[in-house]
Amino acid sequence: MSEMVSSGENTYGLDVESGAEMARLLDQDIMITKAMGGLFAERSDLDDVSSILDVACGPGGWVQEVAFAYPDIEVTGIDISYTMIEYARAQAQVQHLDNAKFMIMDAAKPLEFPDNSFDIVNARFMVGVLTQNKWPAVIKEFMRVARPGGIIRLTETDWPSTGITNSPALDRWTSLATQGAYRGGVGFIANPQGWHFGITPMLTRLLQEAGCLHIDKRAHVMDFSAGTEAFEENFKNLKTVLMLSKPFFLKAGILSEQEFQDFYQQVIIEMMSGDFRGIYYFLTAWGVKP
Ligand SMILES: C[S@@+](CC[C@H](N)C(=O)[O-])C[C@H]1O[C@@H](n2cnc3c(N)ncnc32)[C@H](O)[C@@H]1O
Repeated sequence: MSEMVSSGENTYGLDVESGAEMARLLDQDIMITKAMGGLFAERSDLDDVSSILDVACGPGGWVQEVAFAYPDIEVTGIDISYTMIEYARAQAQVQHLDNAKFMIMDAAKPLEFPDNSFDIVNARFMVGVLTQNKWPAVIKEFMRVARPGGIIRLTETDWPSTGITNSPALDRWTSLATQGAYRGGVGFIANPQGWHFGITPMLTRLLQEAGCLHIDKRAHVMDFSAGTEAFEENFKNLKTVLMLSKPFFLKAGILSEQEFQDFYQQVIIEMMSGDFRGIYYFLTAWGVKP
């Protein structure tokens, strides 16, 4: 298998080889897994599970947590980024996580695994990674590599970490990001003026169309209003996302340099105000391969 994957068709708006993005994803993983109530909040145990695939695993935080918590389960993470996978491998080695494995792979292409390889195929926050037309084939690939009786588990959000807030600047960011995504064919955005990616209502249908049975779902919520524990975490996250999105906004002609600087300052001012309120929702949907 080639160790470098061409990201020529990659739609992810942020630089996947950026060290700042990698650090952001490490923090975000901890923040989001906490908001989800743990690694597998919808299950009481993993007794019947011996192998898990995590798609678009980033720097591998989730894979390492699962590998640590369940030493008898083989956990494999795949990501298109060389930087993320190298870091994930180094971390797993330092922590002696022999049951964690990482491979560079493009999730939008046929996966380099035989049929029936995994008990669980997990993927979180792929909405920015795939254009709308790629989703059905990607979920079919997940089905192919899952074992009969295995589970496909998807977690997605409709907002770029912004959620619903009382900040006009964050609201504007959500619509700018949605408009940019619409132009790039990303997500399931209903109209060019939309204010969400439209992915969460599609998850159960995508699973159904791929042939999954026993489909179910669970919503998660993270309150990052002023004064909450999640505020500091998501404030840092949002500042980094916004800075890393700058080339995208400028290149797409959505904002000029000066407009971007003013906008960034406004986000900071509004989030730092003592009455800032923010709620971030996301959804996990899962189904069983017959
Ligand atoms: C939003 S992050 C999600 C990280 C992780 N799943 C999590 O929930 O913490 C998106 C990840 O997708 C990766 N990515 C982007 N395009 C990809 C592709 N075509 N195939 C696989 N990974 C991709 C990026 O390198 C990045 O690590």
